[in-house]
Amino acid sequence: MSNFLKIKKNINSVVKYEAGLSKLADRKKIVKLSSNEGAFGASPKIRKILKNSENKIFRYPDPESNALKKEISKKYKLNQNNVICGNGSDEILATVAKIFSGPGDEILYSEYGFLMYPIASQLAGAKGIKVKDINYKNSIKNFIKSVTKKTKIIFIANPNNPTGTYLTKKELDEFIIKLPKRILLVIDAAYAEYVTKEDYTSGIDLVKKNNNIIMTRTFSKIYGLAGQRLGWAYSSKYIADIFNKVRLPFNINKIASDAGIIALKDKSFFKRSIKHNSYYLNWLIKEIVKIGLIPIPSVANFLLVKFPEKGKFSATNVNKYLLSKGIIIRKVDSYGLNNCLRISIGKKHELVKFVKYLKIYFKKKL
Ligand SMILES: Cc1ncc(COP(=O)(O)O)c(C=O)c1O
Repeated sequence: MSNFLKIKKNINSVVKYEAGLSKLADRKKIVKLSSNEGAFGASPKIRKILKNSENKIFRYPDPESNALKKEISKKYKLNQNNVICGNGSDEILATVAKIFSGPGDEILYSEYGFLMYPIASQLAGAKGIKVKDINYKNSIKNFIKSVTKKTKIIFIANPNNPTGTYLTKKELDEFIIKLPKRILLVIDAAYAEYVTKEDYTSGIDLVKKNNNIIMTRTFSKIYGLAGQRLGWAYSSKYIADIFNKVRLPFNINKIASDAGIIALKDKSFFKRSIKHNSYYLNWLIKEIVKIGLIPIPSVANFLLVKFPEKGKFSATNVNKYLLSKGIIIRKVDSYGLNNCLRISIGKKHELVKFVKYLKIYFKKKL
């Protein structure tokens, strides 16, 4: 069929998001450590609402997601009027790009930044510009050097995915001082809950002091609700009001909202997840070093590991071998990291299996 319908130029250039593998055709049992979903899944308390939800699904949900916003505000001590809810934080990232940029504008993000940033830029019709990292870390110096009159938005994931590195509060403070106020800084703190470093900030305090900052968060990671598509953000009321005009009217479905509220209340599940992550992240780093590989220091719920560029032990070949054993980790070629693989911090038995096969492949002692 001929392409008789003309597509807008910027839409034509959109590169489809490449999700981590989630299935293997020949295997029922897999170990999936590819998408950084929380190790323990969702709070067991959520199961009850999923069972009871049938009698609610024929009604439209609250277009303002007020109950959810109220619970978010309570937990994180925020002004409810400045809380935004999104169909995953992806929706928020794409929508702010659409609101604050367009053809002729530039959007900056790190060379190893989250794949949604170029997509959000393309959807908005703006030009996405990659900024060089230093040692796999967002470089404030390089970001400032890349700012031009056309720059409208800067996306920074803190911690960054897929590298797992982070910027300290001091580094962000210095960045904000140097950044022109006409530029929107998006601090994507999808993995904030996992960070245990004293010198880290998710950005809530920065939003409170600066009208040009929005911090985005997700229920897909520590809260284990990736399948429900639920994200939120904190910003000035000005940004929140515009967002609410532009987003789709019922962007948060009822089950997602109910599940999010329960997830926020389950403090012991939350604490257990952080404890597990800190312990097994450290454990995995040590095991990777024992094998002779290089882990990039991570503060999130995943670890990026460097492999030799070529030969039997290259990332591509190691990945193929692991897939043959039913273990799915994340290839990160689409991030320009061909010699690396990213491993999510899953359950103990999943990580033990991953390390066992890695050691077998590298012929190291079990
Ligand atoms: C840095 C970062 N931001 C945002 C997201 C998207 O999260 P959500 O599931 O809320 O759309 C991810 C998901 O992997 C991520 O890694």
